[in-house]
Amino acid sequence: MGWYVHHVNIPAYNVRESVAFFNKAAGLAECPWVYPDPEKQDEKPLDNRASLGQHNRGLHIVTERPLFAHENGFMHNPTIGGHFAITVDDLGAVKQRLERAGIPYDDAGVYAMAEMHQVYCYDPSYNLVEINQNVGERAGPGPAPDEEHGRVDQPGGWYLHHVNIAVVDVRKAAAFYTDILGLKEKSLLQPESAGNFAVDPEALAIFGSDNRGLHLIKPEARWAVNNGLAHNPSIGGHVAICVPDLDRVVSNLEEMGVPYSDAGSIAMKDMRQVFCFDPSMNLIEFNGRV
Ligand SMILES: [Fe+2]
Ligand SMILES: [Fe+2]
Repeated sequence: MGWYVHHVNIPAYNVRESVAFFNKAAGLAECPWVYPDPEKQDEKPLDNRASLGQHNRGLHIVTERPLFAHENGFMHNPTIGGHFAITVDDLGAVKQRLERAGIPYDDAGVYAMAEMHQVYCYDPSYNLVEINQNVGERAGPGPAPDEEHGRVDQPGGWYLHHVNIAVVDVRKAAAFYTDILGLKEKSLLQPESAGNFAVDPEALAIFGSDNRGLHLIKPEARWAVNNGLAHNPSIGGHVAICVPDLDRVVSNLEEMGVPYSDAGSIAMKDMRQVFCFDPSMNLIEFNGRV
């Protein structure tokens, strides 16, 4: 089954400040939001929402709206605490499996993005997951058959590398993503000398080709200390953005006075990882090929 991480939604106290951060640190550019109504276009940048990535893909930066679920008749509020979205090629089959498993979900239909049919539910650790399907051409290219986290390069050459989700019971969560969403579990491709952390099936699960896609991790309080880092990527999840020039990002962060942890090639084969917080304290991984 073809699938990909369509977007990662991160909350912001100040959307404009967050957009400026990603632009200054890594050159990510804001792209127009593509609405279901083909006539609708924003005349100027909005204060409550931005898409860094074309066709609504990539990063969504939004303000948290306490009444969003209530106003839309949803159980789930996708604006609170962020969420991530997985595009599948058969949303109907996913809905059937959710029903059979007795997992409550919201079918939002096509409401926020052009030709994307969206469903919301919680995974077993109560991470909010959006599952969507591309139902037309204005949504951009759909998942290629059998391609796992098909890569889409964004303006400037960056792409969404993975989303990391903290789950209390990795096997239970992995079963959800396998049995309900239909993803296939892979093994982590490690560097020759990996860092000091567990990669057994109880601690980590990977979905997607090339270490890209979805990472499920059991939170570990000692992760940062055990690896001499200031940031702990196993707590609360993070989003990873692959950039063409990681050295440039590091010098930008220096210049901006943003504290970061350069982990080197600690976890993934041929990748160097740098962690920092964005202005709203979302943990961000910038990575690059070595
Ligand atoms: Fe979303
Ligand atoms: Fe990561």
